[in-house]
Amino acid sequence: MTARPGRPLVGRVRVPGDKSISHRALILGALAVGRTHISGLLEGEDVLNTAKAMRALGARVERIGDGAWQVDGVGVAGFAAPPGPLDFGNSGTGCRLAMGAVAGCPIAATFDGDASLRKRPMGRVLDPLALMGAKVTQGAGGGRLPITLAGARDPMPIVYRTPVPSAQIKSAVLLAGLAAPGTTVVIESEASRDHTELMLMHFSADVKSEPEGAHGRKITLVGQPELAPKSVAVPADPSSAAFPMVAALLVPGSDILLPDVMTNPLRTGLITTLREMGAAIIEEEVRQDGGEAMASFRVRHSALRGVEVPPQRAPAMIDEYPILAVAAAFADGTTVMRGLKELRVKESDRLAATADMLRVNGVDVEISGDDLVVRGRGHADGGGLVATHMDHRIAMAALVLGLAADKAVTVDDAAFIATSFPGFADLMRGLGGDLQ
Ligand code: S3P
Repeated sequence: MTARPGRPLVGRVRVPGDKSISHRALILGALAVGRTHISGLLEGEDVLNTAKAMRALGARVERIGDGAWQVDGVGVAGFAAPPGPLDFGNSGTGCRLAMGAVAGCPIAATFDGDASLRKRPMGRVLDPLALMGAKVTQGAGGGRLPITLAGARDPMPIVYRTPVPSAQIKSAVLLAGLAAPGTTVVIESEASRDHTELMLMHFSADVKSEPEGAHGRKITLVGQPELAPKSVAVPADPSSAAFPMVAALLVPGSDILLPDVMTNPLRTGLITTLREMGAAIIEEEVRQDGGEAMASFRVRHSALRGVEVPPQRAPAMIDEYPILAVAAAFADGTTVMRGLKELRVKESDRLAATADMLRVNGVDVEISGDDLVVRGRGHADGGGLVATHMDHRIAMAALVLGLAADKAVTVDDAAFIATSFPGFADLMRGLGGDLQ
């Protein structure tokens, strides 16, 4: 797919539902007793794979309309052995959260995924799950998929300090902890997204979250609750809104409105950073729904300047560095993004892929240890062919670059965009973007 510089981006568009919330609504719905109604579910491939997995584990999961789904749950620890391997495609979140949910059930399940997911580390989740009594019975050479996991007959509650700030590790432990008697505690030294905790509260679990140290959290969950099904209205995904948002900032004359975007403060590091760079982003119509806050964002073309992004902000914008790096290329001056080690284990080695994407388009960029340094010149040459490495966010960031660069930008494979943002190209075209 190729993106060409052209007209300003103008209009109002709702980006699809939040991916993190969508996975969790299906999984908690499957663990509740009774029927959960979901509206605005992200119908991207990652989430559809989670829906299939929940079905294979015994929940009834039905699509009843556009983004409207209902899940009849089997109760905590009620999963049945699936008839075949569970294929999570490209999705680390679906896979790792489901591992947590299976770890508390007396069944065995095989987890698998595509070539990208097969390269990603699973030991970070399997280690705490083993402490709770789950066992890997097949695979896990080097902690990689495919892996067969036998859940614990009598799962044990643990107190676990996550070795890296990761909502996926935290969530896997909490989901396994649902099946354990007593209290499971997760301590993180840097707070990661808290959607699992918020949704567990929404489903009436006894869970509390307290500050821990300067930037961390301590989450305490009382095990063996009966989860009460609740309606979940999925807000628009801030990690998807990031792409039209940055495109509007970079293309002269642009003025767009993005309604219903989730404003959970553990997800809005990009907006904070863009505002520090001088971006005109105005929040309107703030409201609360199902435990999560959301707002409409009006975004206008802005002159940006380079900034320092502190490492403590990384968990609140971990998926946004590729698109922030694009914004940084168009800023005046140097942007330094610090503490990006976790980017190396995303859908691709995202640190390397982001630097390569910019370099082939004539941007001055450097990786220094775990930091990314972009020396912005107020514009970018473009003209490059970008290798996306099965990574949706590299593909979308590169296409946004092409809308604002001096010359067109091409990506080698746009197919993976459908994992998180189905309809991306049409939505950008609807705003006036030239994507073919
Ligand atoms: C996610 C957590 C993050 C993020 C991913 C979604 C989640 O991963 O990168 O896209 O929904 O819990 P880590 O927990 O590995 O940082």
